[in-house]
Amino acid sequence: MFEDELKKRIAEVEDLVCSFLPEESGFQKRIAEAMNYSFKAGGKRLRPLLMLSIFRFLSDGRDEKLIYPYMAALEMIHTYSLIHDDLPAMDNDDFRRGLPTNHKKFGEAMAILAGDGLLNYAYEIASRFESDDIDAMRAHIRAMKVLARKPGIYGMIGGQALDVELNDVKKTEEQLKFIYEYKTGALIECALMIGAIMAGASDEVIRSVEKAASDIGLAFQIVDDILDVVGDEEKLGKPVHSDEKNMKTTYVSLYGMEASKKRVRELSLNAKETLSRLGGNKEEGLFIEQLIEWLVERDF
Ligand code: IPE
Ligand code: IPE
Ligand code: MG
Ligand code: MG
Ligand code: MG
Repeated sequence: MFEDELKKRIAEVEDLVCSFLPEESGFQKRIAEAMNYSFKAGGKRLRPLLMLSIFRFLSDGRDEKLIYPYMAALEMIHTYSLIHDDLPAMDNDDFRRGLPTNHKKFGEAMAILAGDGLLNYAYEIASRFESDDIDAMRAHIRAMKVLARKPGIYGMIGGQALDVELNDVKKTEEQLKFIYEYKTGALIECALMIGAIMAGASDEVIRSVEKAASDIGLAFQIVDDILDVVGDEEKLGKPVHSDEKNMKTTYVSLYGMEASKKRVRELSLNAKETLSRLGGNKEEGLFIEQLIEWLVERDF
């Protein structure tokens, strides 16, 4: 059963990524507690899950331990983006992953630092990679470049910044597409691309993986908008109607619910098709297809 397999994998990924967290001791105790609080609160662990699956899909049985630090690093970057996204100066939300948001628990100054701390620690962990194998070292450098670029201004921050800049003004279709592809799509691209790079995939395959990830990311954010309207706060672990509160133009407010759902289906089909052409490991390919279906049909 897919759902059982998914649960098992989320639990495995959870243990694995949490094993990289900083110790809560010494004069860094409070900041480490604040970082670990939001990180350990849970979440779907989608980005590390996708990274691991694409690695298994393309790697021909390489040792998957290779990507564990990247999985943790990306989840740290994602968690930092959520801590900052919730701040009063941004979306001003009080709940995240079923708990009070970081600034509600630790205060704004510590929440800003906890986000910064997770961002930096991510690179500290990922850059520990060492290998005598020159190809592995090359792949590592390439993966680090992706890990630097996709969360930055040509990625997640670029999207968040335009989202903030255009807060409460009606966005054009083009602006909305940019925001979604960047604020959400970029970290999902980062996940799949690093998985593919470390699996030793060719440039052409990496490009296809990036395209599929971009479609998944866009679909994922449209579903996030849909759930902001019709979702259940308890299940989501975060407030609903946050977009309405902030007077945000979303895919749903621009095109309506039915058109949004239709677009999600189209995008997920595109992504599945793109990946199916890559001819990787069959069993893992099937898991990824089901994961994409789950992502767009989810209610949390
Ligand atoms: C929330 O991401 C922010 C978006 C990019 C939509 P997730 O829905 O993956 O959040 P967690 O990790 O499960 O909490
Ligand atoms: C935020 O989009 C995306 C990032 C955090 C980069 P949202 O503001 O819609 O995310 P949620 O709904 O608060 O999780
Ligand atoms: Mg936001
Ligand atoms: Mg938000
Ligand atoms: Mg949202």
